[in-house]
Amino acid sequence: MFSVTCVAPVNIALIKYWGKRHEELILPVNDSISMTLSTDELCAKTTVTASESFETNRMWLNGEEVPFEESSRLQRCLNEVHRLAVASGSQKVPPTWKLHIASVNNFPTAAGLASSAAGYACLVYSLSRLYDIPLNEELTTVARQGSGSACRSLYGGFVQWHRGALDDGSDSVARQIAPSDHWPNMHVLILVVNDARKKTASTRGMQQAVKTSQLIKHRVDQVVPDRIIRLREAIASHDFQAFAEITMKDSNQFHAIALDTYPPCVYMNDVSHSIVSFVHDYNERMGSYHAAYTFDAGPNACLYVLAEHVPHLLSAIQKVFPNDLADGGTYLRGLPIPKVQDAESSKLDSLDVHAKNAFRYIIHTKVGEGPKELSADNSLLINGLPLK
Ligand code: DP6
Repeated sequence: MFSVTCVAPVNIALIKYWGKRHEELILPVNDSISMTLSTDELCAKTTVTASESFETNRMWLNGEEVPFEESSRLQRCLNEVHRLAVASGSQKVPPTWKLHIASVNNFPTAAGLASSAAGYACLVYSLSRLYDIPLNEELTTVARQGSGSACRSLYGGFVQWHRGALDDGSDSVARQIAPSDHWPNMHVLILVVNDARKKTASTRGMQQAVKTSQLIKHRVDQVVPDRIIRLREAIASHDFQAFAEITMKDSNQFHAIALDTYPPCVYMNDVSHSIVSFVHDYNERMGSYHAAYTFDAGPNACLYVLAEHVPHLLSAIQKVFPNDLADGGTYLRGLPIPKVQDAESSKLDSLDVHAKNAFRYIIHTKVGEGPKELSADNSLLINGLPLK
């Protein structure tokens, strides 16, 4: 029996992937850029065990067994890893041995918090460790076929997924732009508005967008290529002002395309829109960008903010979005945030205060590294079966 356990990070897109040019191979219509978040706060964890005695492939997701269908994206990733193992001459584990796989997320699944990205990245990375395959560009093409955004979670720091031009997808790969220690004070506050399952999953939403939105064509041809160049420059030069503006504009354009889809896809809700107004008001009062929002296919906000500005931003959030749970132990999660002596509070006096209890909780995290293998005592499977 061979077993490996790994963790893989969530990534949040700054320039969004939205739309495929090939459904099965998961080839995108445009390049995207993301930042990888620290696995200390948010991660997927996966154990893969291979044994000669297992009769079938089995998988448990967050403790529940899920079907391992022949046609699934899961099977596709497994086939691709087997192909790479054979090609690399790796003989560690015979590809005929069946696998038992257990995976857990330490955050809500399908809440627009990139759980599929971390999940598939973790699966593919764990399989690569099991079969002794190196982490390289080709491995990112495997993760991409699980869930597009997963290819970006194979690296830490800032990552670009290149759309590629070839029909077989071999050049649609993720590459690191800069490691996590390039901009270590880049922090994130995730405002969890609602952890319910999202209504229109990303896969279906983007299919409909490609079919029906005229705006998406303009985005792909005229907007994204230039934004990619400018965001890469902003990251390289630690230019938070340019970084913030590109990030917010790209989030807005993605949601504009969701609304331009017919019938429309609505991912943001009233609370999300009030966060957008708040961030603009706040930045205006601070005299420059101190925070940048981005929203994926759900209502939760992800705010990028430099570490030195986190305490002040949080105090403004607490003022504008009062919460009965604010002093409780589970409202503020993740990295600790020192309280500010609110010297500049007069600047915030005129900000609109919103209805109470708009968020469930807030997660404070930061840029982080790529997937990692853990020691055997972290295994989620004992003799091939999940821990009860
Ligand atoms: C809004 O990667 O979940 O988060 O490839 O169909 O599995 P599939 O979609 P998925 O889409 C992510 C969309 C997004 C933007 C992004 O992460 O770039």
